[in-house]
Amino acid sequence: MNEKINALISEMTLEEKANILSGKDFWHTEPVKRLGIPEIMVADGPAGLRKQEEVKGALTTVPCTCFPSESLLACSWDTDLMESFGKAMGEEAGFEGVNIVLGPGCNIKRSPVCGRNFEYLSEDPYLSGVMAGHIIKGVQAEGVGTSLKHYIANNQEHRRLSVNAVIDERALREIYLKSFEYAVKIGKPWTVMCSYNRVNSGYVCESRRLLTDILRNEWGFDGIVVSDWGAVNDRVECLKAGLDLEMPSSGMVNTQKIINAVNEAELDIETVDKSVGRLLELIFKAVENKAEKISADIKDINHKRARKIAGECIVLLKNEQNMLPLSKSEDIAFIGMFAKQSRFEGGGSSHVIPTRLESAYDEMCKLLNREIPFAPGYSLNSDIPDEELIKEAIKIASGAQKTVIFAGLPENYESEGYDRKHMDMPASHICLINEICKVNRNVIVVLSNGAPVAMPWIDNAGAVMEGYLWGQAGAGAVCELLLGISNPCGKLAESFPVALEHNPSYLNFPGEDDEVYYRESVFTGYRYYGRKKINPLFCFGHGLSYTSFEYSALRLEAKVFDAGEDILLNFKVKNSGDRQGKEIYQIYIRNAEGELNKQASELKQFGKLELAAGEEKEVTVKIEGSAFSHFCTREQAFIVEEGEFEILIGASSEDIRLTAGVKINSADKVKKVYHKNSTIGDIKENPAGKILFKELEEQYPEAFEMIFNGMEDDGSDFRDKMIHYTVLRSLVYFSKGLISEQKIEELINILNNN
Ligand code: BGC
Repeated sequence: MNEKINALISEMTLEEKANILSGKDFWHTEPVKRLGIPEIMVADGPAGLRKQEEVKGALTTVPCTCFPSESLLACSWDTDLMESFGKAMGEEAGFEGVNIVLGPGCNIKRSPVCGRNFEYLSEDPYLSGVMAGHIIKGVQAEGVGTSLKHYIANNQEHRRLSVNAVIDERALREIYLKSFEYAVKIGKPWTVMCSYNRVNSGYVCESRRLLTDILRNEWGFDGIVVSDWGAVNDRVECLKAGLDLEMPSSGMVNTQKIINAVNEAELDIETVDKSVGRLLELIFKAVENKAEKISADIKDINHKRARKIAGECIVLLKNEQNMLPLSKSEDIAFIGMFAKQSRFEGGGSSHVIPTRLESAYDEMCKLLNREIPFAPGYSLNSDIPDEELIKEAIKIASGAQKTVIFAGLPENYESEGYDRKHMDMPASHICLINEICKVNRNVIVVLSNGAPVAMPWIDNAGAVMEGYLWGQAGAGAVCELLLGISNPCGKLAESFPVALEHNPSYLNFPGEDDEVYYRESVFTGYRYYGRKKINPLFCFGHGLSYTSFEYSALRLEAKVFDAGEDILLNFKVKNSGDRQGKEIYQIYIRNAEGELNKQASELKQFGKLELAAGEEKEVTVKIEGSAFSHFCTREQAFIVEEGEFEILIGASSEDIRLTAGVKINSADKVKKVYHKNSTIGDIKENPAGKILFKELEEQYPEAFEMIFNGMEDDGSDFRDKMIHYTVLRSLVYFSKGLISEQKIEELINILNNN
């Protein structure tokens, strides 16, 4: 802490200190005018600013650029793009006088029906954390802070303020915390927002282990922890755990509790001072870093940027017989109300009032320089198929060479605050697609939805484009993609299961009463589908292009490595088609011979390459040694187990193009502790134990005859197998003390001190 802050703390009264640790109102911190401590402003912003201000006594939301939702941004797999998106948001925040943007969110998508999935990035912690880290970098480079949220395990909206997520230690460390760990280490967010829920019983906001031991001490986070809005359970316990700022203001309710706790010696003033110091550092950093000059037409610039970003993310899921791109001269019809009224953003706290809003219909007419036939196909006010609207749509589609249907999920299907109960689109959308497919064989479906939907109609549609919630300018981007003015290059950042029942969390989502068990453990998303050999509808990492790519020439610098050593590898990717395109390569690692529960392929690296038609590039990738580790519950640390690993390089999690095996040598052995209930199998697994056990057998043949109780040695390994799980203590009892307790203790001591 610098001198200025120390001096201020020494001048502040206890009341002022307690007061500043709770907001002034919904969106500002509390100033201390007497000491020249200013207030700063925060605003929501996972996909654009939701800046609220008071106009004539009423709270209004200022129009700001609505960028694509995080669920779509993640499909870019492009860290540079994430930085430029962050930069665009940061500039606009600076322009609007917002000091901290509340986002990005990097909770893991445990179930496709979590109501807030559109605000999250991926089912995979590496992709999620890396992308979030780069968004943070982009925003903060503009002198505006971020709030990485919602730390941690806010993976459902159902009972989000009270639910207890019961998560085993490996899953917590390798999946749920890992996403935040990458984001914190890469992005160094100014603030982290603590989630509402509980984890393994206690409220996250009261967990010293999560907020201080792991977040600060292990990962080196040096910003402030802010509560999610209203997440504070017991203010004094929160403060002790490391939660600095309560938002929004709770009036004097919690402030008084802090004052009382200090006066009654239940809370050290040092704990209060630490949080006040961190908060003052943040406030002055925000004020001092404020960008000087931002172009007055930032919102025009950002509209264009939002369109470009959407175009880099939208995913081409299916394209039979190269139905796409459309040619400008074809007779094209647009069907579906979403073509005129874009479904472009999610509901709840990330709901932005856009500065303008493109419609796919208008944008397509502009690009074609002519009007195209259109029919609404369904009503936005009802899920029930409307016969008249369908009839009209059939008429339009019958006269067109190709029909593009805009469908998906209406806004009230998914939002902060509640989860979906199923993955179905409204019956009116499904019926429309099926009926149109009967009269026109060239149907292209463009989807607008925050999270995966079931597609019972998939075999009827020739092409499908996943637009997620593409933001205010995404409609134009999708038209450019449909026409091939740009080439699709997004890939899914989550699996689309055929049915919700296939999802690994299905039997335990959203839990019972206030308890949800994460029984699928580390097997989230593709980790599960891959191991269970269940084909999803579209797998993690899937996405098509109008060109094609070939992978070749994988080379590794060696075949054997020491644990912790980075691995350099090279391979080539060639654009084998006839147009420019971008390819996202993905590198997975699989522990080929570990225990079954460690054998999932896991994403450890990715990259995006731009290649002209026919062009080939050589890629050099460094895989960090830590990529081979898993969390060892016994050691409470990430360790690398010695053994054979596979490196899998693919165009998706299922489309693996190149593989190589490596052997990792490791001294990271989990030290076994032996005791009287260790099994014979455990003892014989230890080389010294094997010798000692053999000596025991030779020394006490009669005892072993008693142990085997008449089972003859037939020369096979049958007797060994029989006693594999026998525990040491029973050798004493079965042999009626011929092998003494003391003898067993000696053996245990030798092994434990070995
Ligand atoms: C949400 C946060 C949001 C905050 C302020 C909460 O309900 O969970 O994500 O930043 O409100 O709007």
